[in-house]
Amino acid sequence: MTLLIRVSKQLQRQSFKNPLLYRLLSESSALRKGPESKEECTWLYGSSQEILSLVRGHVEVRQNFISEEEENALFKEVETALRKKRYEFDHWDDAIHGYRETERLQWGVTCESVLRRVRAVAFPEGSPLLGPIHVLDLDKEGYIKPHIDSVKFCGSTIAGLSLLSDSVMRLVPENKSTDWVDLLLSRRSLYILRDEARFKFTHEILKEEESFFSGQKVPRHRRISVICRNLPV
Ligand code: OGA
Ligand code: MN
Repeated sequence: MTLLIRVSKQLQRQSFKNPLLYRLLSESSALRKGPESKEECTWLYGSSQEILSLVRGHVEVRQNFISEEEENALFKEVETALRKKRYEFDHWDDAIHGYRETERLQWGVTCESVLRRVRAVAFPEGSPLLGPIHVLDLDKEGYIKPHIDSVKFCGSTIAGLSLLSDSVMRLVPENKSTDWVDLLLSRRSLYILRDEARFKFTHEILKEEESFFSGQKVPRHRRISVICRNLPV
């Protein structure tokens, strides 16, 4: 028994220095909880077991949430508006670098049915939503610096579809900037940030040079996100 405890303490000590071990540990405890938790570990990775347990239940990535056809339909619908704008690179005080954006209220049939699915899985029932959907187009060289979405204008939940490219979203607790949690946002996935993860952590999208998930390079291409938010209560 003492040996087991010692081994486990050693593992914990080692894992403190080695995030990969944290993932392995979290995978084995996830396995004990059930198959859906194991799924979580393919997109969630963090600097410590504690930080992972803080965000658990408040972050979610649903891989392949949309089909290639649906991605195409969304892309077609936003591209015309985006093409009219130039990527913004040089505002040093902007939270986002290398981007253009638009908003859209009315969508065609295919896109509207995707958005209905997003609303159904992401938001608490009856929660009033921000009308227009935010569309953010990040250049290959673009990135989003750490920030927290305005609490004045947005509510408890942020849900985003990723088109065209994989990317890594990093969450960092506001009060402990040495900890971090990475989410692998695969192309065509839906991510959801709720409550604590939305209010107590900054979020960012890593730039190409820093775009690694669990030690693996995640190449960044142009990426479009389609973001739904609810209203503050
Ligand atoms: C934002 C933001 C994330 C994304 O626009 O505030 O954090 O997925 N976007 O593009
Ligand atoms: Mn944001």
